[in-house]
Amino acid sequence: MRAIVQDRYGPTEMLRLQDVDVPKIGADEVLVRVHASGVDPGVWHLVTGLPYLVRLGFGLFRPASRVPGMDLAGVVEAVGSNVERFTPGDEVFGTGRGSYAEYASAPANRLAPKPRNLTFEQAAAVPISGQTALAAVRDAGQVRPGKRVLVIGAGGGVGTFAVQLAKALGAHVTGMCSTGKLDLVRSIGADEVVDYTRTDITDRGQRYDVVIDTAGNRRLAQLRLALVPTGVLVLVGGEAGTGKWLWGFDRQLRALLLSPLVSQRLVPLLSRESTENLVALTELIEAGALTPVVGRTYPLTEVAEALRHLEDGHSTGKTVVTI
Ligand SMILES: NC(=O)c1ccc[n+]([C@@H]2O[C@H](COP(=O)([O-])OP(=O)(O)OC[C@H]3O[C@@H](n4cnc5c(N)ncnc54)[C@H](OP(=O)(O)O)[C@@H]3O)[C@@H](O)[C@H]2O)c1
Repeated sequence: MRAIVQDRYGPTEMLRLQDVDVPKIGADEVLVRVHASGVDPGVWHLVTGLPYLVRLGFGLFRPASRVPGMDLAGVVEAVGSNVERFTPGDEVFGTGRGSYAEYASAPANRLAPKPRNLTFEQAAAVPISGQTALAAVRDAGQVRPGKRVLVIGAGGGVGTFAVQLAKALGAHVTGMCSTGKLDLVRSIGADEVVDYTRTDITDRGQRYDVVIDTAGNRRLAQLRLALVPTGVLVLVGGEAGTGKWLWGFDRQLRALLLSPLVSQRLVPLLSRESTENLVALTELIEAGALTPVVGRTYPLTEVAEALRHLEDGHSTGKTVVTI
């Protein structure tokens, strides 16, 4: 099968297309014929091995998986001996290993039936970013009807899901983004939009119950000024760091240490993928309350370009690779 491969950590330029064996699956796994796969900053970190911290979990000296890519949407080709939930021919979406390839393996408990009203490209945009936004809005942020929520990076991969999920949970949502994304963020349901190139969060004197930061380039002290005294700050991520060991992850660590000492709750987010979360997202998608925003799409041969498109940190919605 055709796959994008990497034999070492390094710049995206070293990724190349190769013929490799179709992956073998374990008893609890599913082999998926991949139709589309999502691209997100997490994959960039796993390709480059930066910050070094990621190597502890994903291969100390070289990537544990030679084929990058996690998000996938496609058709079940085969199932392991313990898998009862899926059969060959089922259309599925979720996260697996090595999805920048014609076939990928995925644990059955990280897959769900593809939402009926989505194309494979749209479905591939959902798993990581949608589940991250769900963890940020529903679980960490505990967003309820009437809560005032600020989403920073509202036009990005996670942000476009977070805005819609907070709206679906009945919140008053403010989306913060650059000028070119204001119309998009309004169109996905934000009650108010703020152009951060003109007004920063503390300039407006507004205080929010929940601030969800996907952009990662503001100091904790500044973010806390935008929160009510008992508010929740959810730190999803950010690519603003440069240190090769932590890459801005130190902000998450500082939040973890500071949170017990202040009245606000500061939550460094670590999202988890599961069938249950995918099903929760599917219900909203099929009810018309959640629609993935697909920005650019690239063919399998251009995965490196797709990852480079993310590098500048200003992509729109979710980037998708079609296979
Ligand atoms: N914690 C977890 O489990 C988890 C899971 C998934 C992802 N993440 C992390 O979450 C972060 C976001 O991921 P993503 O997929 O949403 O990335 P993305 O698609 O690149 O979105 C980031 C958004 O931030 C906006 N932005 C950049 N600078 C900004 C600024 N100064 N102020 C406000 N907005 C700004 C960008 O657009 P504009 O500047 O044009 O508005 C962009 O839309 C990444 O660091 C990723 O690694 C964490």
